[in-house]
Amino acid sequence: MAKGKTTAFFCKECGFESAKWAGQCPACKEWNTMVEEPVSPKTSGAGQARRTPLVKTKPAMLSEISVEESDRVTTGYQELDRVLGGGVVAGSLVLVGGDPGIGKSTLLLQVCRNLAAVGQKVLYISGEESLKQIKLRANRIGQMTGELKFLCETSLDHIRDTISEERPDVAIIDSIQTMYREEIASAPGSVSQVRESTNLLMQIAKGEGITIFIVGHVTKEGVVAGPRVLEHMVDTVLYFEGDRHASYRILRGVKNRFGSTNEIGVFEMREQGLVEVENPSEFMLDGRPEGASGAVVACAMEGTRPILLEVQALVAQSNLGIPRRTAAGTDQNRVSLLMAVLEKRCRYEMSRYDAYVNIAGGMKMNEPALDLSIVMALVSSMKDRPVDEKTIVFGEVGLSGEVRAVSMAEQRVNEAVKLGFTACILPQICLDKMKKTDRIRLIGVRNVREAIGYL
Ligand code: TYD
Ligand code: MG
Repeated sequence: MAKGKTTAFFCKECGFESAKWAGQCPACKEWNTMVEEPVSPKTSGAGQARRTPLVKTKPAMLSEISVEESDRVTTGYQELDRVLGGGVVAGSLVLVGGDPGIGKSTLLLQVCRNLAAVGQKVLYISGEESLKQIKLRANRIGQMTGELKFLCETSLDHIRDTISEERPDVAIIDSIQTMYREEIASAPGSVSQVRESTNLLMQIAKGEGITIFIVGHVTKEGVVAGPRVLEHMVDTVLYFEGDRHASYRILRGVKNRFGSTNEIGVFEMREQGLVEVENPSEFMLDGRPEGASGAVVACAMEGTRPILLEVQALVAQSNLGIPRRTAAGTDQNRVSLLMAVLEKRCRYEMSRYDAYVNIAGGMKMNEPALDLSIVMALVSSMKDRPVDEKTIVFGEVGLSGEVRAVSMAEQRVNEAVKLGFTACILPQICLDKMKKTDRIRLIGVRNVREAIGYL
């Protein structure tokens, strides 16, 4: 950086630093994300590295390192424990990201309640809400017991002192975008503040063995840095997602130094806070119409977890020159492509019809394994012939109308059996590789035409 220069440009998506402004971030290729921020010389990135540890560390053999399983504490929610890799690891730094209002504070407050109830000392630090507001929320959630304390504070230097005095086992920082360090010139929420604040929290977590949960809002507007800026610094990154209009929420592991990232947890937002959904398939299929045409149950995978969902299609005669194709919850281009396959390979005059495809329940799913169920739903609606309601369908459809193999067919079939389905239409290639079972009727198909034959 040039001498005497007091500002620099940062990408609020990925934290890339540059002396010049650019329309597109050279690092993450996002547009319009570079913002100007003051920099104070003593806190540039290099300053961090110079802070040498007081105790000189020595190399060790793997056999000399002891690992205790008791280092993991359950959060009281199986859904969250699974995403974390089997509970929270003491001294870890966990980022919980998500859109504002999705339920991050609620989830963490409930986790605090559970942890305090099993004897952990918990400190909840909020920079967004007053103690009164927290109390109101806590009242909705229910009884709080144990050593659970609250603090309204945004200065991290104060927070560090409080943590040293209180010595909690678990601390929550809600949210990182409201926190600031006095020695940094830029405003709270700016890239350099967020980065330096996380650095300090990292030192507290690792130095004192305190588990810290950091809340990060996903924002697209203003100069507020997004949680991606700190993804590389923390041990675990979880994103809390969901449709504002649907009540279920999905907690997804994006990075995890202590477990796999393929896991999801499903919650439902109720009057009294978040409730675990142990069987998401049952939840997604709730209130399904019986014997209606155009509805097919499909099986999609969320990580390693199969979820059954209902694919609905409505095909109606078109009055327009260019027929409409709309898709909610899945890719519209994919729907157009599948309709072209039907037109060309099965000789259905799809161009005379409007088509609307919807994944019931507000779930978003782009897995190719849904292809065959979309095709079946479209034809079922067009011919007004219902698909047997105890049948599930999955398989990828290729451009020549062939039904291609999908991964983890066995898990999908098992999920269907678990929920009482009696038949499953699946790619023949998957069926060939599977063990024989008499718990469910398995129908292998090689192409779209064969599948439609079962309507
Ligand atoms: P909140 O945890 O404040 O979101 P975030 O911290 O991610 O910004 O959740 C806010 C939403 O949750 C709010 O719109 C109201 C809803 N909610 C309920 O439906 N039931 C409840 O018991 C609580 C506490 C919140
Ligand atoms: Mg909040």
